[in-house]
Amino acid sequence: MISKSDIENFWTRGDVFSRVHQAMSETGLINKKLEIEELFPIDQYHARGIAATVDLGKRMPISKNQKIIDIGCGLGGPARYYAKEFKCFITGIDITPSFIEIGNEFNRLTSMSDNVELLVGNGEVLDFDNETFDGAYSQHVTMNISNREKFFSEAFRVLKKDSFFAFTEHGLGPEGKPIFPLPWANSLEMSFLLPPQKTISILKDIGFSDIKIIETAEKYISGYEKLIKLKSENKKPVLGIHVIGGDTMNERSRNSMQSIKENRTLPFEIVCKK
Ligand SMILES: C[S@@+](CC[C@H](N)C(=O)[O-])C[C@H]1O[C@@H](n2cnc3c(N)ncnc32)[C@H](O)[C@@H]1O
Repeated sequence: MISKSDIENFWTRGDVFSRVHQAMSETGLINKKLEIEELFPIDQYHARGIAATVDLGKRMPISKNQKIIDIGCGLGGPARYYAKEFKCFITGIDITPSFIEIGNEFNRLTSMSDNVELLVGNGEVLDFDNETFDGAYSQHVTMNISNREKFFSEAFRVLKKDSFFAFTEHGLGPEGKPIFPLPWANSLEMSFLLPPQKTISILKDIGFSDIKIIETAEKYISGYEKLIKLKSENKKPVLGIHVIGGDTMNERSRNSMQSIKENRTLPFEIVCKK
């Protein structure tokens, strides 16, 4: 079984603080106030970056001043974007303490600390009372969750009535057998993909309704192609997803793209109601 420190090492790949500091120094983003947009190249830790966050935002019915939870918030990039866009309050939780530390520093640098709070936590056991939040979302996290029933039940529990739950993930495609290593796992020890229909049936059993799914394979393939092209032309920007994902990010992105092309995996977005 995979340990807590294996998970931390998988996500941080050594000294993530130094890599972030170095990249920010080289791009002149040190010792000054920042706009959230300046951090998009490194704080959106999922395929397609800010474009995927914007797409999901268009499908989430968030209103001003609502309290929203981001489950598996990473460095808090999506949380800062939605908090600014919708003028809401976001609590993000993530299992990787270093990401939370960097994310809270990014909140401070972008003057977003009043609207975005990031805490260390596990999506399978949320440390909040029942019916605390007006909405919940989770971007590219569930691939790592072995017990989906527990994860989705916790989201359901902390949501108020008539609220929403939205998430994006790579589901298991009809061909199965994804090519490892992948952006979210080196092997089956950390990867727990389910066919989208199985995910939908778990959500229904828990009590979620009005479940709407959109497949995003084409968008993800073209997103990965752009990333890989930059690398092959030696045009990789200083500030990019590789700062967090490390040296193997390109290989893992390539495998993810190929897994989608061969119908081994199937990325999608789901938005549903409590
Ligand atoms: C691909 S990253 C996505 C981060 C963020 N949602 C984003 O889109 O920028 C996956 C994140 O899930 C987190 N994670 C994995 N398992 C988790 C769990 N059981 N509870 C909370 N976070 C988890 C990892 O630490 C990592 O930050």
